[in-house]
Amino acid sequence: MNIPTPTSNGVEGLGASSAPGLPDEATLGRLASEFFRRLPGQSLPPLQGEGRGGDGFSNQPTSLGAGSAPAPEPSLIQSGPSVAPVPIAPDPVDPAGSGGAEFGVPEAYAASLPAITPPQPPSQFADQAPVSPPVFASTSPYYFLGEASPYTQSGGVPAKPENRVVAQPFGLPGEGELKSLLAEISSDRQAPKSHGQPEKTANFYFLDSAKVPETGPTARPAFDVNAVRRDFPILNERVNGKPLVWFDNAATTQKPQSVIDRLAYFYAHENSNIHRAAHELAARATDAYEAARQKVQRFLGAGSADEIIFVRGATEAINLVAKTWGVQNIGEGDEIVVSLLEHHANIVPWQQLAQQTGAKIRVIPVDDSGQLKLDELQKLLNPKTKLVSVTQVSNALGTVTPIKQVIDMAHAAGAKVLVDGAQSVSHLRVNVQALDADFFVFSGHKIFGPTGIGVVYGKKALLEQMPPWQGGGNMIADVTFEKTLFQPAPNKFEAGTGNIADAVGLGAALDYVDRIGLENIARYEHDLLVYATRGLSSIPGVRLIGTAADKASVASFVLAGYTTEEVGKALNEEGIAVRSGHHCAQPILRRFGVEATVRPSLAFYNTCEEIDRMLAVVRRLARGKGKVAA
Ligand code: ALA
Repeated sequence: MNIPTPTSNGVEGLGASSAPGLPDEATLGRLASEFFRRLPGQSLPPLQGEGRGGDGFSNQPTSLGAGSAPAPEPSLIQSGPSVAPVPIAPDPVDPAGSGGAEFGVPEAYAASLPAITPPQPPSQFADQAPVSPPVFASTSPYYFLGEASPYTQSGGVPAKPENRVVAQPFGLPGEGELKSLLAEISSDRQAPKSHGQPEKTANFYFLDSAKVPETGPTARPAFDVNAVRRDFPILNERVNGKPLVWFDNAATTQKPQSVIDRLAYFYAHENSNIHRAAHELAARATDAYEAARQKVQRFLGAGSADEIIFVRGATEAINLVAKTWGVQNIGEGDEIVVSLLEHHANIVPWQQLAQQTGAKIRVIPVDDSGQLKLDELQKLLNPKTKLVSVTQVSNALGTVTPIKQVIDMAHAAGAKVLVDGAQSVSHLRVNVQALDADFFVFSGHKIFGPTGIGVVYGKKALLEQMPPWQGGGNMIADVTFEKTLFQPAPNKFEAGTGNIADAVGLGAALDYVDRIGLENIARYEHDLLVYATRGLSSIPGVRLIGTAADKASVASFVLAGYTTEEVGKALNEEGIAVRSGHHCAQPILRRFGVEATVRPSLAFYNTCEEIDRMLAVVRRLARGKGKVAA
């Protein structure tokens, strides 16, 4: 029997030789691999020996990045990897030479690449194969992407902006109306008076257009939302006979086809446990998982993939920090500062830690618009402050907090900072190094990725000092009954079999978001929020909860005479999904004297027409018993 045996570089080999006159089994295996690689519809994993590290615990993708080299940029379709695999002549049915699969890119996934940048054959085959029609034909201009990430190492400006989606005209019926509304708002930045609204302390309650970053030499119009929508199959659903309107994006976002396909591809072609075996699928799965880690690194602008820990979501991420760094560094009499805006997930773990250690929780108040009071934060900071843990965007109000100032103030006081990015990463570009955040957490499902996967970013020096929180396989270097040696971060914090496929799916989601461009997203969502805010505030009986000058994609409100549940049900009857309730953020709602709100929360696939449908329902309610009760 021939047993696959690990070779010195971790690549399996076939041990025994074959009968005289026949190719030996290693040769047969290689030929068989090559045969299957060339079958139409098959993925083309790298040939054995093509750079798989196989050290069992390396976090470097073993085929994608050619060992420890940085992952290739999206231009790989044209330029090829830095270390070329064995050349494969273009196949007649696959004239571009596998749709990027020679770089470890799943073919089904890569085959959906749009013709944003028409692919060319590798130069060595330029005279052998025609390249039209493009193999990456797609019904949508946005459904695309290979396994390589477009992010720069610094996570700042994408390296190949020309490979981004080019913004398209807005093309919506509301465009003219929106423009006139914006002009009106600019000339008179007073909020319209409506029943029960709190006094405004800010200019107006949405993102100031001056703060939406420009990304090019000329201002780009909003992208083509109708094209984007085609990437999200669930948006074709009907609810109560009406086209679905998904305004519950702060609870979870919908998934583009590229993410759905990437998950299916993983289970169809790559599924294996990771880091643990010398067989082919273990290598594929490890490659895909570690490539996702590198995508997260670039997306966040982290300095190293070793600073990225996969967890179940933002809640688990905060608990990890509380139960490791927190237990190690926070003791009796120490202080933990959170803000009144926090989600329960950024309150309860710190309360538990405080109860356990005798530490105290201090709370940054907010003003009447729902913005943090930095002067109050300054008063709270003192030498006992060990941690400031604050959200970047409020899930209940949409407030965008001045997180850089919070971080700088906390650092000046000697405290570390955790940033809850659960609600920010899908709306704003984040760079953890520019922010100088000590910890940054987010959930995959709120950025168009799968549920059950999330991220802790931690500065390397901090992660190195932190103890593990769960023990088991994958996180150890050596175990005896006397002593266990742990792996370095991030493996130290990833005990057991993690959510491998969903990490890969998250990588695909980040690719998707980056190709659309967060600046495009921010600008478009800003316009949507202006439109929704202005519409809601003009309805008698509507009180907007959260009117900070800096907001992202949330328009929480209550309607006089109705419970929030009644409004939510009325909207659902028209196919419109919003969250009604306390949004897991009871302290901030109570600050505004309410226990619940109706919370439409927007994403870049929403439209002004959808907002009109929502406004029509709220207006109808307001004309009814709400008016009487008010
Ligand atoms: N945190 C999620 C929300 O805000 C569940 O709805």
